[in-house]
Amino acid sequence: MSSPDTQHWNPAQYGKNARFVSDLGMPVVELLSPQPGERILDLGCGDGALTIKLVELGCNVVGVDSSIEMVAVAKLRGLDAHVMDGQSVRFNHEFDAVFSNAALHWMKNPERVIAGVWRALKPGGRFVGEFGGNGNVATIVTALELALSSRGKVVATPWFFPSLGQYKALLEARCFEVETIEIFPRPTLLPGDLGGWLDTFAQPYTNSLPVAERLGFISEVVDALGPVLCDTDGNWSADYVRLRFAATKPNTAT
Ligand code: BEZ
Repeated sequence: MSSPDTQHWNPAQYGKNARFVSDLGMPVVELLSPQPGERILDLGCGDGALTIKLVELGCNVVGVDSSIEMVAVAKLRGLDAHVMDGQSVRFNHEFDAVFSNAALHWMKNPERVIAGVWRALKPGGRFVGEFGGNGNVATIVTALELALSSRGKVVATPWFFPSLGQYKALLEARCFEVETIEIFPRPTLLPGDLGGWLDTFAQPYTNSLPVAERLGFISEVVDALGPVLCDTDGNWSADYVRLRFAATKPNTAT
């Protein structure tokens, strides 16, 4: 859930428009294969909906997220959650695993993320995660950029969507052993129309415009993408591409 200053998380809006994010995170939990008693760091824990699953499996979990509002909700669930930028995590050799679902694409300095994860892990610890890979939401990004450029605006991408080779190289550069890594399209059914998704996730684009222009901008993008992302029954989906990986800090590392 970490993100630049132009993105603000509203837990109620997130619950309405984005609950699918944690619902679809169970395969990453399975890849993590958490064991009772393990100490796990959930990097970008958001409102803790998935963190709590790890706790229910008997793990001792710490969640971190850059959003004060989302961490407050995670704490209300009884979780040990802290406001922290995922690009500067401050833990030393104390976790059996670092887990991250749908958060790493908000952290545009992956070298710092990976270095912090490495430091946080015990020797032999696992780094397991899933986030947006190369081509993620490309159709939506193209429409956003087009609608902005017709208003004379350009916004640098707020997201980091690497290729498989790029992310594997980043992990290996920090001496992680990459056990599995895959990239795959996962068209994702949205709970409402694309407007809800844009309100929740595309603020770096919408907030570049004066407040009075934002509704019109969102309607224009929704109208442009209807023929592409909405089926004849009115169901919207987003063109997600997932990058899923499991890597290990070698036993011999310090
Ligand atoms: C994602 O989960 O892939 C994602 C969510 C919001 C914005 C961009 C990507």
